[in-house]
Amino acid sequence: MKSILLLTLMAVATILAVPSIPQPTQYIMSGTFEIPYFNIVEPITLAYDSINNRQFIDYYQGLDVIINLFNQDLTYTISPRVYEMTCTVTQGNGTLINVIPNDPTNWIFNGTALVNNVQSYSFTKKISAYGRTGTYTFYIDANGNPIQFYLNGVDTIFDSHPDIYILNFATYTEGPVAESYFAVPELCNGISPTPQASDEQESTISIFGTIGQQLVAREKLHRVNFADFKNKYNRNYQSNAEHEVRFNLYKKAANMIDAHNAKGLSYTLAVNQFADMTDEEFHTRITPKNKRPENNGAHSTHDNEHTISLPATVDWRQQNCVTPVKDQGVCGSCWTFGSTGSLEGTYCVKHNSLISLSEQQLVDCAYIMESQGCNGGFASSAFQYIMNDQGISTEAAYPYLMQNGICKDRYAPKSGVTVASYVNVTSASEAALQNAVATVGPVAVAIDASVPDFRYYSSGVYYSPACQNGPDDLDHEVLAIGYGTYQGSDYWLVKNSWSTNWGIDGYIMMARNHGNNCGISTQATYPIPN
Ligand SMILES: *[C@@H]1O[C@H](CO)[C@@H](O)[C@H](O)[C@H]1NC(C)=O
Ligand SMILES: *[C@@H]1O[C@H](CO)[C@@H](O)[C@H](O)[C@H]1NC(C)=O
Ligand SMILES: *[C@@H]1O[C@H](CO)[C@@H](O)[C@H](O)[C@H]1NC(C)=O
Repeated sequence: MKSILLLTLMAVATILAVPSIPQPTQYIMSGTFEIPYFNIVEPITLAYDSINNRQFIDYYQGLDVIINLFNQDLTYTISPRVYEMTCTVTQGNGTLINVIPNDPTNWIFNGTALVNNVQSYSFTKKISAYGRTGTYTFYIDANGNPIQFYLNGVDTIFDSHPDIYILNFATYTEGPVAESYFAVPELCNGISPTPQASDEQESTISIFGTIGQQLVAREKLHRVNFADFKNKYNRNYQSNAEHEVRFNLYKKAANMIDAHNAKGLSYTLAVNQFADMTDEEFHTRITPKNKRPENNGAHSTHDNEHTISLPATVDWRQQNCVTPVKDQGVCGSCWTFGSTGSLEGTYCVKHNSLISLSEQQLVDCAYIMESQGCNGGFASSAFQYIMNDQGISTEAAYPYLMQNGICKDRYAPKSGVTVASYVNVTSASEAALQNAVATVGPVAVAIDASVPDFRYYSSGVYYSPACQNGPDDLDHEVLAIGYGTYQGSDYWLVKNSWSTNWGIDGYIMMARNHGNNCGISTQATYPIPN
């Protein structure tokens, strides 16, 4: 009897000894945000103040600083641009990023473990989105101080692709945050605020911004506006699933419209009765146009005139002309990966030597023709820059930071790979693209990756009716490294830059000869290496 009581007491004592996940309203943490797949270790400091609706985030010790004063509707951003640091001041509200779970009761205690040399208590939560499940584990020490946030799956904090993400807490202090964190940075003095960045940049270029907060805020706004839309046009959807599909279509249209209107052109657009329709539903009404963006500096065009017979299947990996899948992480730098991939590949085809090239150099230095580091860009800018700079460094000599950095092209040793010129593949011709991929090597292609299921692609030939778009919807740059036919469906073999945790070990088969799905042949470009 006594011993049972004792055991019970011990059990209770053990349960009581488990610390609970803190729920601070104000804290400062510092540590590292890591993506093990691509050896990314990004130092981060976050000062969180939900009482005053503001926060301070610093990446790489001052290289990129974001101060969100949502209480004043202002955001200060300090970031590098080529050789200098710049400040931008933006108006608008948003949602604070909290790196501590704000729903502790949904996290299940799952034993203790040694993490970063600290005896830690783990709590897990399963996350499920679009049929993919992920597990998050949050570790705290005996006093309830956070030790590590481990995410295996979609990163809902920074809003990114499925991968393994680790946030290590080196320091953590709860309580009021010193005012100095929220002081106007000296660099920002005298700079007048611009309206909240339009979504255009994000959607033309990257499907995820450097941080998720603007997207989260916009999402909320869209939900409210969508309710109005449904009232106005008497929409009654059959199911929750259809409701979500329609909402996503609506959201996409609304983003495009807002972006257009923010440009202050001579005409504006507005949401109308077509906003929740798929392009297929709508396309019976219009004549699709496939217009390329204006002059991109290419000096020739690749078409399908050379009617040589092409192989039925191409996969440049078999010639060892494709580097291992890389990982852009949380940075809209897809364009640099597509570009390096095409140069690595075409150089290899020509010289029989595969050299992994630096995306970070393009992120930091290639601010030409509208390209802007982690805020997106174009393959043509990358190739033009490499021509101007007479080369590019290797991946190892100029490693990836996942963040805009100061341009080091004056110091970093070059790889020896140079570009003579670059070529437009005839727009919207899948035959020309096939010819180029078969005869030249891997080609950088821009696609529409904004349909949510793309983000969660896992196998098979990807075809999306919601992806039958004109060039306005191209928002992600990837690399066509081959093509073929799988179970009766023609496909493009496409290398993405979202690690091997995404897709088929980092690759996707995208529909080929199926109406230029997702605009894959709309803006294909490749370099001619020396
Ligand atoms: C920003 O949003 C928050 C939360 O919705 C709200 O409480 C606050 O008043 C807003 N600030 C401004 C200046 O609009
Ligand atoms: C709990 O921890 C064990 C051992 O570390 C792990 O295998 C298991 O997946 C965890 N459970 C959950 C729900 O994450
Ligand atoms: C390449 O495409 C751009 C964008 O459409 C165009 O302006 C340019 O004239 C093209 N260059 C060549 C050589 O075809």
